[in-house]
Amino acid sequence: MVKWIRLMVINDNKPNPPLLNDWGWSIFIETDKWILLYDADTEPRIMENNIKALGIDLNRVNAAFLSHYHADHYGGFKYIGKVRKGLTVYVPEVDNILRKWDLNPITVNDSREILEDAVTTGIMSGMGVYEHSLIVKLSGYGSVVVVGCSHPGIDKIVKRSHELLGDIYLVIGGFHGPSRQQLDIVARYSRYVCPAHCSGDEARHYMSVHYRDKYCDVRTGTVINLPIT
Ligand SMILES: [Fe+2]
Repeated sequence: MVKWIRLMVINDNKPNPPLLNDWGWSIFIETDKWILLYDADTEPRIMENNIKALGIDLNRVNAAFLSHYHADHYGGFKYIGKVRKGLTVYVPEVDNILRKWDLNPITVNDSREILEDAVTTGIMSGMGVYEHSLIVKLSGYGSVVVVGCSHPGIDKIVKRSHELLGDIYLVIGGFHGPSRQQLDIVARYSRYVCPAHCSGDEARHYMSVHYRDKYCDVRTGTVINLPIT
């Protein structure tokens, strides 16, 4: 299991000047065992600017992960392909885009380990979208679940993650305008809940009021070191 995880939000819908931002999601995940780029926002220009501003060295990245084929998650891979030609990207359906940008997409079907102690949920579908999410095993604390837009339903993703790897420590990413009932389920399963991207202001507000000790505020440039001390 990994001993520590550092999450760095390259782009979120919420701004944080002087970093640039737009509607999209990209998060850099560093552990004591590997480094992964999760989703790549909409704009190559914003990815390039924020990656440089945050001091991220793309040469150290071991692999990348695309949650689903929507432009606000894959657009910036055009820049990544220029800097890291041939980088492996774990994708949820047969690729028509990333290969053109000199990346190496590998299609995931069922749940499996993609890096040491990092597992994909396997493809889940919802709202006509194929999407997968990432689960990382954090030693002594449970797992960390990173989601893209949660088209299959954030409650279903969290339940699947719990079935696969047990206790959950933190969930972060886009929850796709979830209902309160869905948020209650997420809060029941996870020690920390970090709604970002397409979660919406209402979800963020609900969590911050009703689950104050679980809520974390996420915006462009947010850094979260795990375990939280
Ligand atoms: Fe999205």
